[in-house]
Formats: sequence, C-alpha cells, structure tokens
Amino acid sequence: MTKTPLLLCPGLLNDAALWRHQLDSLTDVADAQVADLTGAESVAALAAAVLERAPPRFALAGLSMGGYVAFEIMRRAPERVTRLALLDTRARLDPPESRARRFELIDIARRGGFAKLPSQMLAGQLHPDHVAVPQIAATVLAMAERIGPEAFIRQQRAILDRPDSRPGLAAIHVPTLVAGGRQDGITPPDVLREIAEGIPAAKLVIVEEAGHLTPLEQPQAVSALLRYWLQS
Ligand code: MLT
Repeated sequence: MTKTPLLLCPGLLNDAALWRHQLDSLTDVADAQVADLTGAESVAALAAAVLERAPPRFALAGLSMGGYVAFEIMRRAPERVTRLALLDTRARLDPPESRARRFELIDIARRGGFAKLPSQMLAGQLHPDHVAVPQIAATVLAMAERIGPEAFIRQQRAILDRPDSRPGLAAIHVPTLVAGGRQDGITPPDVLREIAEGIPAAKLVIVEEAGHLTPLEQPQAVSALLRYWLQS
C-alpha cells in the first residue's frame, strides 16, 4: 500500500516528542516527518524552509504555532498540500493583552530567565489532570529545554508578526480536520469553530479530556483521528 507523505508541524517550544505516538502508530499509512520550526523569526521564513525540505506533495498537520505555519504554507503552496489538519490553533490575531505578554516573555528570556518559564506555562498548556502526570509534564518540559531560549525568542517574534489567516480560509479546498482539546484554554473550542466554519471542506472534532497539547494528552484519540483523516 502506498503511504501518504505527512508533514507534522509542532507548536511553540515543541519538537518531535509532541508527535511520538502518531509517529509510531501511523507508520503503516504515512511516511511522516516533523518540521523544525526553530530557525527563523517569521512564519514566512519558517514556511519557506519547511517547503524546501518537504516532499513534492504531502498531507500537512500543524499544532498551534505549527498551525500558523501551516496557514502560511497554504498561502504559498496550496497545490502541494493534499489534506490539512489544524490542531489547537487560531486563524485570528492575538488580543492586545496576549501580545503584551509575549513581549514580557521575550524580555524575561533575553535577561536569562528562560529556565523558569516552561514550568510556569505548564498549567496553561495541559488539562488540569495532566499537569501532575509525570510522563506528560516531563515530556513538555524536556521539549522546552531542548528548544531553549534563543529559539523561544525567535518563535515568539514569528508568532507576533504572523498575518491574520481568516481572509484565506475560504480558499482552502483540501479535506481539512480541525481539532483541539475541550479544556484548551489557549485555543479554546470557539476559536477552532471559527476556523472550521471558514473552510468549506472542514470537519471539527473536539477531543475530550485534553488541553492545548492534544497529541500528547490524548495520543490514541489523536492518532485515530489522523488515521481516519489520512484515509478518508
Ligand atoms: C503554541 O503552542 O504553539 C503556542 O501556544 C502558540 C501561541 O502562543 O500562540
């Protein structure tokens, strides 16, 4: 059976460990690779770098910041994307208070205070029951440590400068899965609904008992969703 080339775009301070279960369990249907979103300060440059290394045509999944890059890929090279999965992400821009918080975080990281940030961010990222699950929390903290302060600052700058993706939603014509955690406080179900309502061929799925990092918090459910999306 031919496998689908699959490109997975992780979120802020995430790497391939976010997608561990999906990478392991979809090997029979997908040739997956995880994009590196640490090397540039704009979604345009990140998307260009990802496209340079990507196969000619591929299924594209992005979580949160990975979704911002996925939107940019859809603007630049829609003909290369066969299907799209947008997880725990937003099309609209940040409200002013979130922008202000990002500048604060950049400042803290610049002054050498990055090390304390990942553990402070944990409660906002995970379902309350998952904050105390060592396997989940340790994975999130280890990813953040690997990404480190310089890449964190670049990623926050890219997020701050990203364009509003709402005007392009109606032009997305590939089969699209929009999914996220019921208890995601960063990109809650309403934010996902806005995306799903804007894309003609989108299906919205809310994952129960999950916060912002659904592939890690509900790995079996997300792998099953992606399998269905890849095969439908
Ligand atoms: C992420 O997980 O990528 C971030 O929550 C994105 C963001 O801060 O907007």
